[in-house]
Amino acid sequence: MKRTLASLDAGALDGRRALVRVDFNVPLEDGRVADDTRIRAALPTIRHLRERGARVVLLSHLGRPKGGPDPKQSLRPVARALETLLGAPVVFLADPLSPDAVAETKRLPRGGVALAENTRFQPGEEKNDAALARGFAALGDFYVNDAFGSAHRAHASTEAVAHILKPAVSGFLMEQELRYLGAALADPRRPFVAVLGGAKISGKIDLIESLLPRVDEIIIGGAMACTFFRAMGLETGTSLVEEDRVGMARTLLDRAGRKLVLPSGAVVAQRLAADAETRTVKRDAIPAGWAMYDIDHLSAEDFAGAIESAGTVVWNGPMGVFETPPFDRGTLTIAHAMARATARGAVTIVGGGDSAAAVARAGVTDRMSHVSTGGGASLEFLEGKALPGVAALDDA
Ligand code: 3PG
Repeated sequence: MKRTLASLDAGALDGRRALVRVDFNVPLEDGRVADDTRIRAALPTIRHLRERGARVVLLSHLGRPKGGPDPKQSLRPVARALETLLGAPVVFLADPLSPDAVAETKRLPRGGVALAENTRFQPGEEKNDAALARGFAALGDFYVNDAFGSAHRAHASTEAVAHILKPAVSGFLMEQELRYLGAALADPRRPFVAVLGGAKISGKIDLIESLLPRVDEIIIGGAMACTFFRAMGLETGTSLVEEDRVGMARTLLDRAGRKLVLPSGAVVAQRLAADAETRTVKRDAIPAGWAMYDIDHLSAEDFAGAIESAGTVVWNGPMGVFETPPFDRGTLTIAHAMARATARGAVTIVGGGDSAAAVARAGVTDRMSHVSTGGGASLEFLEGKALPGVAALDDA
């Protein structure tokens, strides 16, 4: 267990500068924030600090700038979006390592908020550079990490700084993410069903290995099912198959036995397009020249049944190419089944990235127990890996 923001008493916050690592890695369109989910997710921590008189200094990365600062990946538009959400001014620290920036953090009023420019504009950030971490640490009197989405990165603003600036505690979003994902792994309400999808099995092998001993069932959809089909000796037409993982898929099938459930049929087409001719076929009848782009209706209903009778469901990865209707049906069926499972009292967890986008498309985000704000981070956590951004925080 890690020390939390809630454990810091009023005296530790009032008038003090809280250096808060958030994950404001949000999509921008035409210089504006296109989806503010991650900003809103950090508001409880920011509000808690402001209401207790802390001066809040926020750090985040945005995108993956290469070779120095790139104005297109500036956090300035995010500062404006945050101002709107808070209904309060946000000071933008364009050069966070300058003496002026440090002075600005000290001049903030009690409850004032500042956002520093993209941490990845600093060459030492991704190298977890200690000198850079000391520079960041000068902006605060204590450290809060609320950036679950970046916790799998050992970077100066997520890891090294937590060894320098004390206390170093988790924020409310970080705490909530760790609680839901941690409980699912350690003490799941049963039956515990994992639903995995996406294009490639290669990115999910560690996840399957980690979940296999813990779950009652792993349901597999998406193109990754085709690599398993090939391992079963089935024809897969032009479906995406990772030839170099077929042996691994065979081993997993042998080891998992009945725990691993694959679709019994597929929606196939000759090309990936909304207006393409589609056919629904059994999994052993994918025609030459056709590719699987979604699970079929019967499989979707079977999977929905398993989800609705589960005690815990963790979902990571779409069942088909859900960005291109009509190949979104399997994924949307899963999203709605998850919502019904939640209503019946199951713990339903969506593991970030594409699945979170699918749940939003289905309009059921609010009907999940927890939608993780971390794509890679939730994956690594569920794989049983230690997250450096969490490990570096103070123990409770
Ligand atoms: C994410 O979007 O998953 C996080 O913000 C981490 O971003 P990264 O993969 O560029 O480190």
